[in-house]
Amino acid sequence: MSNRAAAVSAWQPQKLPKVAWGKGCYIYDTDGRQYIDGSGGPAVFCLGHGNEEVNAAIARQLDKVAHGYRYTFTSDPLEQLTALVAERCGGSLKRMVFVTGGSEAVESCLKLALQYHAARGQMSRRRFIARQRSWHGNTLGALAVSGFKDRRAAFEGALVEASHISPVNAYRPPAGVAPEDVAEYCANELEQEILRCGPENVAAFIFEPVVGAAAGAVPAPAGYARKVREICDRHGVLMIADEVMCGSGRTGTWRALEHDGVEPDIMSVAKGLAAGYLPLGAAIYSDKIANAIVPVHGGPLTGHTFSGHTACCAAGVAVQTIVKRERLVEKVAEDGKYLVSILNEKLGDKPYVGDIHGRGFFIGIELVADRATKEPYDPAKQVFIKLREQSFANGLICYPSGGNVDGVKGDHVILAPPYIATRAELDEIVDKLAKSLAQVMGKL
Ligand SMILES: Cc1ncc(COP(=O)(O)O)c(C=O)c1O
Repeated sequence: MSNRAAAVSAWQPQKLPKVAWGKGCYIYDTDGRQYIDGSGGPAVFCLGHGNEEVNAAIARQLDKVAHGYRYTFTSDPLEQLTALVAERCGGSLKRMVFVTGGSEAVESCLKLALQYHAARGQMSRRRFIARQRSWHGNTLGALAVSGFKDRRAAFEGALVEASHISPVNAYRPPAGVAPEDVAEYCANELEQEILRCGPENVAAFIFEPVVGAAAGAVPAPAGYARKVREICDRHGVLMIADEVMCGSGRTGTWRALEHDGVEPDIMSVAKGLAAGYLPLGAAIYSDKIANAIVPVHGGPLTGHTFSGHTACCAAGVAVQTIVKRERLVEKVAEDGKYLVSILNEKLGDKPYVGDIHGRGFFIGIELVADRATKEPYDPAKQVFIKLREQSFANGLICYPSGGNVDGVKGDHVILAPPYIATRAELDEIVDKLAKSLAQVMGKL
């Protein structure tokens, strides 16, 4: 049974507790059990649960009107959110298409890239290059560019062909490459793949600046993003940053690539944008893209019934207003250092902890059977599934996943606490994780 199949079989909705209510970093089931949300669900609930200001903003909007359909109306929330997001992005990332989640945001990014080349008369530029150990979403286009073997397997044969180059992970460099050479080696591999496909055939390179579920909060080494930017520019290939999981402030800068001093041509955001209060995502694009497509097509040739949904945008405005006013991105940058320090203190010397990595409130812990050789656990041991169950039993929500080594082997756990988490709450999350890990490892 594959990792994915094992994870899906272990997930039995009829056995799950029923969610009742949440407040701050805590969420409760209908039996009154309390859970601390150490991963914001899947890196979503950046303001925690039950935020009254956000709920009131949504209710106020619903009292007026739920949604002004995009071909009939614009709205204050839509315009305010556009201005807020453009300000947070800075530079030339000023235009956006709002959608209802991460996969739709990635689909829109891919389509904007194709549309850009079409508008410039370069219809041969249709191919996408992506990376192995990446996750871009569950719709067919987003799945086609995803390098997540287990999640693709049942759909192979129906996915648009894309290139998948090496993952970029200094802890697990490509064979024969020293950790300090990973950035250079992997960027060169992108250029080689562009040349192999023929630059005239390549539309865009899509990547996660800090890889989420497929690798476990793994940032690329310094210098990688800059080199990728140069290579893309040299060959007329667009750069798409998938910041669905790592963006919206989670890594301690609003855009994850801000850390590297790089601006992509197109970028997806979702999870933290409206913090899970209502479904919302966005494909954000630069002046370069707008200047090509607007004169030819009038605007983006993508969108859905619920694009720019008014109440969802009102949720986004409320969330982003709080994130800005309370300086939560700055808090994440600062408290992220504390989170890593307590993880190192409590787990750094454990024989089953291979590496602790990430940025801000997006931290991954890779679990290994042997620290010296970095040998992963036999997938049959189902370590990440057991960890998910044990932590949950201990009242901790975290995000364990598998397949990070070669698509099948590998176990890791992501912590992505709400930005509002206090240091005492971070302590509680790490203590519960350490306890759960000791219990799981003790029984292997
Ligand atoms: C980097 C990345 N892109 C895209 C997606 C897809 O987002 P959604 O599940 O909201 O469709 C995810 C979801 O985990 C993600 O982590």
